[in-house]
Amino acid sequence: MTRKTRPQGVSTVAVHGGHEKRDADTPVVEPIYQSVNFVQEIGTAEGLRYPRYGNVPNAEIVARRVALLEGAEAGIVLASGMGATACALLALLRPGDHLLASSWVYGGTHRLFTQEFEAMGIGVTLVDPTESRGWRRRLRKETRAIFVETPVNPTCRVLDLRGASHLTKENGLALVVDSTFASPVNFRPLEHGADVVIHSGTKYLNGHHDVMAGVVAGTAPYIEEVRQKMMVWGQAPDPFAVWLLDRGLKTLDVRVRRQNENAARIAAWAEGRKEIRHVHYAGLPDHQDHEVARTTLDGFGGMLALELLGGAKAADRFVRRLKVWIHAPSLGGVESLVSEPRFTSHAHLSAEQRAKAGIPDGFVRLSVGIEDADDLIADLEQALR
Ligand SMILES: Cc1ncc(COP(=O)(O)O)c(C=O)c1O
Repeated sequence: MTRKTRPQGVSTVAVHGGHEKRDADTPVVEPIYQSVNFVQEIGTAEGLRYPRYGNVPNAEIVARRVALLEGAEAGIVLASGMGATACALLALLRPGDHLLASSWVYGGTHRLFTQEFEAMGIGVTLVDPTESRGWRRRLRKETRAIFVETPVNPTCRVLDLRGASHLTKENGLALVVDSTFASPVNFRPLEHGADVVIHSGTKYLNGHHDVMAGVVAGTAPYIEEVRQKMMVWGQAPDPFAVWLLDRGLKTLDVRVRRQNENAARIAAWAEGRKEIRHVHYAGLPDHQDHEVARTTLDGFGGMLALELLGGAKAADRFVRRLKVWIHAPSLGGVESLVSEPRFTSHAHLSAEQRAKAGIPDGFVRLSVGIEDADDLIADLEQALR
């Protein structure tokens, strides 16, 4: 695929990327075009603007910035992360086609694949992404794409894309990566053989827990296909959401770096605690994915998980005692959040099934915010005691 390498540093692109030029007398901050109608030139269908088409000014700027951040030719902003995943894949797959997908994906993505796609006649095979030659063994002649989420929600595993990337190149397939947990600050999948990158913009890209959005980046012709799907499935974002995303993106780099630092400090502290059985954070040198993370990521991320020795009871007590950390299911924003997958993404599974998936009772997921690490640790400490 044709890729453009990022011309400037991530902070500069996050602040300025997407602005073509700034004329005298124009506002420094892009004004919001809170209008769903734009005056049309008479006598032509060319240049017709409509928010659902993804071609209004705020959306175009953010789409260009996301493409620059990911090193992609083009990007597009959608109404949610799920909207992004659905349209990104519907642009690649037709009834009769087959998708190979990692079995370690966000719950909503899992439902989309196993319920919706199957019902549409799109075959989906879920693969353990760490199984050696697992992708190759399940490849069919109808296979059109491989889908991987990394780092993985909620286990924070970091996957090596080399096997899947090799196979997709060899067979002319598309490698699609949900990179929500990393953000383009920590990982840019296109630099590691992916063809398409997806984010829930609701998370790190916006970073303030107040916007629902999704983005897709890839080649220009492919993004045009995604736009066609977005238009007819009604997955375009509202103008205000895009304007807030524009604003949130400007601080992406400083936020994520701070979140990386805070998470690393919390992981190091948690490792020494007798009440914690296991700390899931690939930044720790003895984590099973440390080597992959160290060699492919620019930062180990702001997500981690703790497995409390006392199981469900200990987790319940711990979460109730926290004062700074907020009990809430999303992630990636400035406020530190704690959640238990047994009551969110994995609520539909039995305790045994969850334990098999690496999420036993007592497993708490932390989305680390930008508060002072000392305060975050002190709060965790008093809740554990
Ligand atoms: C990894 C991942 N991808 C996609 C999504 C879906 O994003 P949204 O909630 O913006 O639709 C989520 C939501 O939690 C997620 O964690």
